[in-house]
Amino acid sequence: MNTEPLHGESISLNRRGFLIASAGLAATLALGGLPRTAKAAPLTLPALPYAENALDPVISANTLGFHYGKHHMAYLNNLNKLIAGTEFADMPLEKIVAATAGKPDKVAIFNNAAQTWNHTFYWHSLKPKGGGEPPAALKQMIEASFGSVDACRKELATTTISQFGSGWGWLVLEGGKLKVVKTGNADTPMTAGMKPLLAIDVWEHAYYLDYQNRRADYVNAVLDKLINWEFALSNVG
Ligand SMILES: [Fe+2]
Repeated sequence: MNTEPLHGESISLNRRGFLIASAGLAATLALGGLPRTAKAAPLTLPALPYAENALDPVISANTLGFHYGKHHMAYLNNLNKLIAGTEFADMPLEKIVAATAGKPDKVAIFNNAAQTWNHTFYWHSLKPKGGGEPPAALKQMIEASFGSVDACRKELATTTISQFGSGWGWLVLEGGKLKVVKTGNADTPMTAGMKPLLAIDVWEHAYYLDYQNRRADYVNAVLDKLINWEFALSNVG
């Protein structure tokens, strides 16, 4: 599997049912640090930016295989079915999310679109041998907003762990200041005018095979060993 961020890749299924990347077709454009598909119909699943066993033992290949190959894929497949033949069929993913947020008659499209976007963002929020010290430019911003990297890390942990039920913990930029927020289910800070910098998935499918009910252990391990501060900085813009 490709180990580099995606730029111009297409997706195919290997014999184990997981998605692998091959150079070529569906052109992607970088939006901040996150690649996105330039053509929206049908939307394709960006490849993981690392091998499915690259986050082991913090996140096992088993968890990653199901999470990416089944859950993420299902959101995308559902979305493509829901938007076929509609006004959303040719929209980029981010526009579908924005256009359906808060609309009761578009909940299914929003949920699947936002979850498709959130998961791609989450994969890039992690990296093998992550954690540690943020790059200097981000560290300065963190210190200006939270006082210290440790204070930011603690707030990210406690806020994410405390999300009631399924959802996400986020580091975001709002009005030039870094903030930590949490969202329930598919909700994303994008639709509230915030710029996401990092995401941590706390749906049970993100950790249950490896940690069972120990969500705090999963979140702390992700922050200490996988979190991709360079990706956060790339999203500052
Ligand atoms: Fe997930």
